Order: sequence, then C-alpha cells, then structure tokens
Amino acid sequence: MNVLLLGNGGREHAFAWKISGSPLCSRLYIAPGNAGTASCGENVPISPEDFPALKAFCLEHSIGFVVVGPEAPLVKGIYDYFAGDPELRDIPFLGPSREGAQLEGSKAYAKAFMREFDIPTAAYREFPTKQLPEGPSYLASQAPPYVLKADGLAAGKGVVICQTLEEAQLELKAMLGGKFGQASARVVIEQFLSGIEFSVFILTDGKSWVLLPEAKDYKRIGEGDTGPNTGGMGAVSPVPFADEAMMEKVRKQIIEPTIRGIQQRKISYHGFIFFGLIVVGGAPFVIEYNCRMGDPETEVVFPRLRSDLLELLFAVPSGRLPEMTLDVDPRFAATVFLVSGGYPEAYEKGKPIDGLSLVENSIPFHAGTTREGEQVLTNGGRVLALTSFGDSIEEAVRTSLKNAERVSFDGKYYRRDIGFDLVISD
Ligand code: AMP
Ligand code: GLY
Repeated sequence: MNVLLLGNGGREHAFAWKISGSPLCSRLYIAPGNAGTASCGENVPISPEDFPALKAFCLEHSIGFVVVGPEAPLVKGIYDYFAGDPELRDIPFLGPSREGAQLEGSKAYAKAFMREFDIPTAAYREFPTKQLPEGPSYLASQAPPYVLKADGLAAGKGVVICQTLEEAQLELKAMLGGKFGQASARVVIEQFLSGIEFSVFILTDGKSWVLLPEAKDYKRIGEGDTGPNTGGMGAVSPVPFADEAMMEKVRKQIIEPTIRGIQQRKISYHGFIFFGLIVVGGAPFVIEYNCRMGDPETEVVFPRLRSDLLELLFAVPSGRLPEMTLDVDPRFAATVFLVSGGYPEAYEKGKPIDGLSLVENSIPFHAGTTREGEQVLTNGGRVLALTSFGDSIEEAVRTSLKNAERVSFDGKYYRRDIGFDLVISD
C-alpha cells in the first residue's frame, strides 16, 4: 500500500523508519518530513494542516493509508475532514476525531472527562475569562506551588508552576489576558502533585486496545532536571518502576475507564492515546492526555518493537486490532537529543551538521534537520535524537553519549544525565 505520514519531527522519522521496513509498504510519502525521513521515503512539501492540499495529494498518489504524527492537525479536525469527504472517506486513516483529540486540545475537556469517568488526576477548577475576579480568592484558598494550565494547545508552554501566591495571581491575569492567545482564554488551576512521571501509550480503535512499551521522558533543558521545559531532551524505555503491579493499576484505574468513557461518549477514536502519568505514593495519576505518540518517547518505543509496525497500525482501520499481539525487545533503549544552542528560547538555524557517518551502534533520528545538496543543516530547536540499546540503562545511554560527541554542529547541546535517576533501580 501507499502510505502518507504527516509530520516532521524525530517521532515521524521513527514512524517512517519502521513503516519503510515493512513488506506491506509500497511507497511512503512524508508531509513535510525532514532530512532523516527523506532516506525512508519521499518528502512532500505540504503542511499537515493544509487539508485541501493533502486531499489532492492522496487522490493523485493512490494513498491507501494516512498516518498522523502530530496533534495540531488532529485537534483541527483532520479525521472529520477525511471522514466527511465522499472522495476521501474510504481511505484508511489513523488518528482520532476532533472530539477525541480534545483530550489533548482542551485541558478543561480532559479534566471534565476524567472527573466523569473516575480517572485519578489532580483536583482542579476551571476559570473562563469572565470569572477572572474570582481567581485571586480561589488561588489564596490553595496551597503553593500553584499549577496554572492554558486550556488549549500552547506549543508545550501552556503549563506554568508558580511558587508564590503573588506570582500565581499575576500569571492567571496574564493568561486570561491572552498570554497564549485563545489557548489561555480559559485556564485550569490544579493541585500540585509531587512524584515521578512516566509515559504510557496505547493504540486503540475505540473499543479494543494494545499496550505499547512505556517510557520516561526528560523534559527540562538542564541536567538534574533544572531550567525551563522543552519538548523533551531524551527518553528511556522500559521504565524499571513501571513493574507489573504498577501497570495493573494503570490498566484498571486509567486505561480501562478511559476506553469506557470514549465508548459512552460515542467518540470516534482510531489512534494513539498517550497517558502522561505521575506516581504519587505508589498510585498513578493522569497529568495529561495526548492524542498522539510522544516525542522523544517514540524514538525509544518503536525501536523496541520487533513486530511489523505498519501491520499493527493498519489493524486499527481494518478492524483487526483485537487479533494483534506485540513482540517487544526486552533490552533497554535510550535516546539523547542534540539541540540547538539557546533552545528552548531563541536559537539559530542553518548550521551544518557533521559527523553523521561516524555514528556507530546508535540510530540517528532526525528532528529539526533539512538537506541542502549533500549537506545536512539544523532546522529547529531539537535537532537529532540518538537512540541506542543496552542490557542496562547506563549501557544504552553511554552508547548514545559516545555518538553525541561524534556529531557536531555549531551550538550543539545535550544532557549527559538521561536515565541516571533510574539507574539505582535498574
Ligand atoms: P503538561 O503540558 O500537562 O504535560 O505539563 C507539563 C509538565 O508540568 C508536566 O510534565 C509536569 O512535570 C508538570 N505538571 C503538570 N501538571 C502538574 C501537577 N498537577 N502537579 C505537578 N506538576 C505538574
Ligand atoms: N514528550 C512529551 C510529548 O511528546 O508531549
């Protein structure tokens, strides 16, 4: 079959790398892709949010399966666009409906969903702009730290944790005043939870589901989990503390009630659910839902899948998901992201990347890269994720770090402590 994959991050390079290795794949197109996906298929310069251009492309290139990587087109309703068009509706499609994508696209929607279906999450209250006058007294009735979340998508920047009441009051005012545009016209204020985070992924057709390997992501820019949040600086899979007893709680208390909720609300959901979890006193709580795979988690989860990813993904629209089982590599996978100097604040693009051919025993997943003739250039904040295997977390990380030294570009930065907090329990 001809496959069209949407997106251009490290996640999509991992999708493209697995899909292109499948005997079921005739041609793979990636819109718009990056310098890494270009080695797995053909990049096409179409934005994942330009639905009419995607329609024309699908019809011209006999696309037999569309796979959506990032959240933005899903939240914008790409599933509904395809399902509602007589020329497109028969093309098998992987990605939830606009309503399903609200689990990520609206924090207020997700919180109300969790409350309705008894899914453990932090206590919260929602503030639309008109209730701004009540904000200060509500915040004053809470204990610090204060967690303020813009309701809508805010490029990963919409969660602000304030240590003092004064800071929280100012932040609430700024958010409701449009700090994140429409995304913060509504703000969720929630209880601060203290614990260790990890990421759980399922692939679902809205009824049955398959559990993928779990992962732990390292979000802060600085070593020792310091400094501002990023899209993710590295990841590890499996997660030693996510043992069978923990995963049983996750299944019973989180995954099953989420699927029940999707069915009760009659939401059309064909795709991934990414549960961002935090463990507090041995109990898992949902910090956030995402309607897609994680990045950089995908760069450690997919390499561990020995099963044919395309066959697994295609089982969703073809109704065969209940028959699917996964073959997973038991070894540890770790990925270390090389990022542009200055990221997650301002950074420069267009720096030549050298040494890619020197990478040994790691898979270099491209994220913010582009090709100019023979030269690969940086083209984003997160540039390249180096994934390696090992019999221990330390061994996997060490291999990625060795390769991180071999690849060079002006301003290169990476964290050397990915996975180290887990090593004691490894
Ligand atoms: P999110 O964008 O919802 O994943 O939030 C970004 C990060 O903020 C999370 O990964 C957590 O580290 C932190 N965070 C979000 N909600 C809470 C909470 N209720 N308590 C503590 N930390 C939180
Ligand atoms: N790694 C976190 C995310 O993809 O949102």
